[in-house]
Amino acid sequence: MTFEEQTVFYKELVDKELDRYMSFPDGLKQGKLFEAMKYSLNAGGKRIRPVLALEFCRICGGEYKNALPAACAIEMMHTFSLIHDDLPCMDNDDMRRGRPSCHKAFDEATALLAGDALEMYPFDVLAGSTSCGVSAENALKMVKMLAWASGHMGMIGGQQIDTEFEGQSPGLDELLKMYRLKTSRLLQAAAGMGCLSAGADGDAVGNALEYADRLGLAFQIVDDILDIYGDEKALGKPIGSDKEKNKYTYVTYAGLEGAKEKAKQLTDEALDFLAKFNNSEFLKKLTIELLNRNK
Ligand code: IPE
Ligand code: IPE
Ligand code: MG
Ligand code: MG
Ligand code: MG
Repeated sequence: MTFEEQTVFYKELVDKELDRYMSFPDGLKQGKLFEAMKYSLNAGGKRIRPVLALEFCRICGGEYKNALPAACAIEMMHTFSLIHDDLPCMDNDDMRRGRPSCHKAFDEATALLAGDALEMYPFDVLAGSTSCGVSAENALKMVKMLAWASGHMGMIGGQQIDTEFEGQSPGLDELLKMYRLKTSRLLQAAAGMGCLSAGADGDAVGNALEYADRLGLAFQIVDDILDIYGDEKALGKPIGSDKEKNKYTYVTYAGLEGAKEKAKQLTDEALDFLAKFNNSEFLKKLTIELLNRNK
């Protein structure tokens, strides 16, 4: 399969599996909650995190089906982060993935709860990975990894720091520390859980985590660049959001050229960790594509 065919294959696989997880009984009183969860999950995200999970599983010697629960779990968690990130009390953005944000399409309370539900469901899904050939020990490690990556020491912690940095000029180290938490952590969980799904050893997991740490920093810097210079239509979310909220980003710190240079340097570092794996050509292409993306 070519890179493009493999990407489409993975995305369709994940979409189908997410649909399966999201088929709930008719006639329940909380039907609106289900609709809001599905609305945001199926709004056409790039599915980078699930693809990372599936591909790390493959290069660690697993079958892609071993990593399907991890792939779906991380996309649910990521979607939760986006729903809450867009809320009026957070970034207050009205568009996401090319559609009105969840709180615009539904209402704030429903969006809050849809996010909450998509934060809980992943742990149920991961616990079920034992029926996809994952050992109970590795399933437990994935639960722990996802909780670490998502919670107060991870993405949510980073989101807190992000809100406190509004209107401030943090030092460079502090800014990158915040990016590591809010963005690298979920990418790390995707890569790490992919390895664990294949039963990989600690060295492989460690290298995957280092890779995704650098990838995440580069990813957030590119996101910051696109927030200024990107095309709203391609992105499916508003540009100028950071400026409006007085966010100090890497672009504020280093300018466009400095930010581009840093993203390239971090991508090269990520590629060095990737080179420790056999058969990592697909991930190499993906990593470079993410640096040069326009959405
Ligand atoms: C957006 O993530 C949030 C950031 C961490 C910058 P993505 O760019 O992966 O969003 P989707 O999933 O494609 O919508
Ligand atoms: C997002 O950072 C990080 C998350 C944890 C969602 P941003 O706030 O820059 O993401 P976008 O630009 O809204 O997707
Ligand atoms: Mg934000
Ligand atoms: Mg935002
Ligand atoms: Mg952004």
